[in-house]
Amino acid sequence: MRIPLMAANWKMHKTIPAIISFLDSFIPLMRELGSDREVVIAPPFIGLETVCRALRGRKGMGVAAQNMHFEEQGAFTGEISPLMLSDLGVGHVILGHSERRHVFGETDGFIAKKVVSALEHDLKPILCIGEKLEQREAGETNAVLEAQLRKGLSGVTAEQAQDVVIAYEPVWAIGTGKTATPEQAQEAHIFARKWMAEHFNSGIADQIRILYGGSVKPANAAELMALPDVDGALVGGAALDAESFAEIALCPLTPRA
Ligand code: PGA
Repeated sequence: MRIPLMAANWKMHKTIPAIISFLDSFIPLMRELGSDREVVIAPPFIGLETVCRALRGRKGMGVAAQNMHFEEQGAFTGEISPLMLSDLGVGHVILGHSERRHVFGETDGFIAKKVVSALEHDLKPILCIGEKLEQREAGETNAVLEAQLRKGLSGVTAEQAQDVVIAYEPVWAIGTGKTATPEQAQEAHIFARKWMAEHFNSGIADQIRILYGGSVKPANAAELMALPDVDGALVGGAALDAESFAEIALCPLTPRA
C-alpha cells in the first residue's frame, strides 16, 4: 500500500516571521490529518530549523529540504550538506527540481550523486523529473523521463529504491497555471512505474511513490489524486497559503493499490 505524500515546496519564499505565521494557521488545520497520508513542508534553508521544531513529534508530518550538496562537508561556498540536514531532523530532500536543472544548470550526473548521498544519510530523496514543452510537442516525453530516471537513479540499489520518491513535474505546468490533464499525468506516472519494474523489480514499482507537481491547486487536487498511479503532490504556489495548502493536503484520497 502506497501512502500518499502531500508536499509543499516554498521555493525562495517566506521570511521567518512569515513561516511562523503560516505554521500558526496550518498546524491547527492539520488536526484532521489521518494516517492515510503524509504531509511534508520544504521551506527555504533558513526556515528548516523553525519548521522542524514546530512539526517535531507530529504524526504524519515532516520536513524536506529543497536541495543539498552530496558531500558531508568541504569548501563548497553556499551549499548545505546531507549531514547538516539529517542532524536538524529533516526527513526528505527535493533533488533535481526543474529550476535546479534549467535555471542553475544541474546535470543528471550531479543529481545522481545527491540521490545516493541522501539515501546514505537517511534522507528520502524526492527526485523530480519532467519534460519541457518543446520536448512534449516533439513526442520526446518518455525519452526524457527515461533518461532522467536512468541517470538520476544510476547509483541506487533495489533495496534503497524503496525510500525514493519520484515527482513527475512537467516543466510547462510549473508555476504556469497549466496543469497536465489527468490522462497526461496518469500516462507519465505509468511510464515511470513500468520503468521501475524493469529496472528494479515489480515489488519496488508497486511500492514507490510517484507524486504529481505542476500547478496543483485546491480545485484540481482531488481529481489528480484520484488517478491510480498518482501518489501525492508536490505543490509550489498554492502551498504558500496555509488554508490553500491545508485544503490540498486534506483532499479526498482513494487508497493506493
Ligand atoms: P507550482 O510549482 O505548484 O507553483 O506549479 C510546483 C513545483 O515547482 O514543485
